[in-house]
Amino acid sequence: MKGIVLSGGTGSRLYPLTKVTNKHLLPVGQAPMIWHPIWKLVSAGVEEVLIVTGTEHMGDVVGLLGSGKDFGCRFTYKVQDEAGGIAQALSLAENFAGGSPVCVILGDNIFEDGLANEVTAFSAQALGARILVKEVEDPQRYGVAEVRGDRVLGIEEKPSAPKSNLAVTGIYFYDGQVYDIIRTLKPSKRGELEITDVNNEYLRRGAMTWGRLSGWWTDAGTFPSLLKANELAQASELPFPSLKRG
Ligand code: DAU
Repeated sequence: MKGIVLSGGTGSRLYPLTKVTNKHLLPVGQAPMIWHPIWKLVSAGVEEVLIVTGTEHMGDVVGLLGSGKDFGCRFTYKVQDEAGGIAQALSLAENFAGGSPVCVILGDNIFEDGLANEVTAFSAQALGARILVKEVEDPQRYGVAEVRGDRVLGIEEKPSAPKSNLAVTGIYFYDGQVYDIIRTLKPSKRGELEITDVNNEYLRRGAMTWGRLSGWWTDAGTFPSLLKANELAQASELPFPSLKRG
């Protein structure tokens, strides 16, 4: 399976920290934010990783990550010209994926669980899509999944009256159909191609499975969540410990 880390967007909710740098280069614990999702992919056996980021800080991202030699993987880079949404960023992965299943992680998602079992399970499933959910106290901030047994009944993006407390985390698995689905999307009210619309199309096709993270999970895209991510990461395993100096 190939891996994709989406690290575009404007980081506007973290301004002025993001005035001269990319959100995903900010520190989380003792590592740059983007090391955390990359570590989860590499630890799960993923060897080919696509990094998508914007034009402004691509040079710094490449400077930080290089070819992947030091990280035990091979990086490919793609530029997202404008912050057109998570699904738009994912559409840039079509050639890289070459039809194979992918594990997509949003670059600001920081979490405890390893993904090896999920990667193996979805490699076997090969078709459709899979989301991972986590109970949260503030579901209005996220995509929210309503589930019954094995089935996902629906996903709503940032609902004012959430139907559950299950946030759809920024860890997704897709088959090679995802790019055709993205081509059918229309921009949302916030002018973005929404990953929730992609997921609801898989639901409509009856091709969506779901799993639950058992450990902690947070995004790091707001001041409170960046602080939380730092506290949690500080107290846990360092990503790529062999790369730490001093
Ligand atoms: O963190 C999980 C949540 O992420 C999900 O529950 C939501 O369903 C999903 O829409 C997303 O919500 P956010 O509003 O938090 O997404 P945000 O715009 O902050 O983008 C999250 C990451 O996605 C960001 O760190 C980088 C990547 N991204 C985002 C945009 C808008 C891109 O690569 N390109 C983009 O254009």
